[in-house]
Amino acid sequence: MSERVSFGSRMGAVFAAAGSAVGLGNVWRFPYETGNHGGAAFILVYLGCVFIFGLPIMIAEFTIGRRSKACTGGAYSMLAPGTPWRWVGYLGVLTGFLILGYYSVVSGWTLEYIWQALTGGFSGKTSGDYVAMFQDFSQHPFRPLVWLLAILLITHFVVVKGVKDGIEKSSKIMMPLLFVLVILLAVCSVSLPGAEKGLEFLLKPDFSKLTPDVFLGAMGQAFFSLSLGMGCLSTYASYFGSKTNLGKTAMGVGLIDTFVAVLSGLIIFPAAFSVGIQPDAGPSLIFITLPNVFQQAFAGIPVLAYVCSVAFYVLLALAAITSTISLHEVSTAFLHEKFHFTRSRAAVLVTSGCMLVGIVSSLALGEWSAFKICGMNIFDALDFLTAKIMLPVGGMFAAVFVGWYLDKKIVRGEVTNYGLLKAPYYPIYVCILRFVAPIGILLIFVNELGLLG
Ligand code: PHE
Repeated sequence: MSERVSFGSRMGAVFAAAGSAVGLGNVWRFPYETGNHGGAAFILVYLGCVFIFGLPIMIAEFTIGRRSKACTGGAYSMLAPGTPWRWVGYLGVLTGFLILGYYSVVSGWTLEYIWQALTGGFSGKTSGDYVAMFQDFSQHPFRPLVWLLAILLITHFVVVKGVKDGIEKSSKIMMPLLFVLVILLAVCSVSLPGAEKGLEFLLKPDFSKLTPDVFLGAMGQAFFSLSLGMGCLSTYASYFGSKTNLGKTAMGVGLIDTFVAVLSGLIIFPAAFSVGIQPDAGPSLIFITLPNVFQQAFAGIPVLAYVCSVAFYVLLALAAITSTISLHEVSTAFLHEKFHFTRSRAAVLVTSGCMLVGIVSSLALGEWSAFKICGMNIFDALDFLTAKIMLPVGGMFAAVFVGWYLDKKIVRGEVTNYGLLKAPYYPIYVCILRFVAPIGILLIFVNELGLLG
């Protein structure tokens, strides 16, 4: 077998993992979940989930990937041969496949918005017009499907091109650019008239709003945003070199991801309150709020409004694509390594399957919206099932696997690079994997079912 490819540099590893983590989860999903769950109190619980569950589980996934040098579908079979642990790997592959299906639909929306921004579609409109524009588009039977296909094809070609040229290079250029633009827009949004109400919503916690749903939502969002619980980062870690510092990389990814999410909140809420859009508008929130920001913040300078809106949607699409690539890679690597398909044949299968899931999720917002599962349309049901159930379950198993099953020499060896690094956090890390994370995640599930008090 040929030698396994790896990322070209240590920074390459951080950028690629951060590229997977930072995406629509931060800019699209985080604000709407925050809006649906009442604002600041949700954010506090979210931060707790990121630092208490997220970072240790990320290091655990890195450990599984780098040690096994296999994609997630094969990693558990490699480290625990002949045991049922392999099902955790398969669960991850299925979760990633389903997420990619509906995530690509939203990624496709960003392409439509690039098109609108380029052709001046936002100028001279009121906030009511932006709402109508989004509804007309997202409920249209074909238009979103064309963009969905475009996103899947782009993702497909990057994945086929391979790790180093495709994934690493694209992340290195796009991430810093996205950063700069997000900061700029947050400043603009905060200076809009009436923005204070949005800031208050975002920063002043109202603890009476802490329901079981808030905990489940925050936990799901933390897993989703950090790309955890489905072996995505463990698949990436299988391409890490032996010198990559797992703890530091996890910290870097966690901080970058949280920073972009909070800044996205700072862009959306002040602007939403300023123009009177409800914070709980759901998945449409950023698509109806942002065009307002561009038009209003740069009202006197139309060129700037034009340039910023084009740049923003281009970067958002790129951030989405670095995430779709990582989702696609999990299934493709699995089919390639497990069934020995060539990478390109494996990728064709994944792309076609995701197109089908994507078509169903997209139509669920328009033509098929009357079809409901537990009161949700198929798009929302897929999001609920994957983000709020499958990812936390996968993350819990990863924690238990590394905390309890894996040989401690390996667990310590991976975080210290077999004696080369000090890892003073090691005892806390193991304690979280063994007790805090599994029990915490279970309690949140049980609480949601209403079995606690
Ligand atoms: N973390 C990505 C985002 O925030 C989405 C994602 C989830 C990617 C799970 C991979 C795995 O957009």
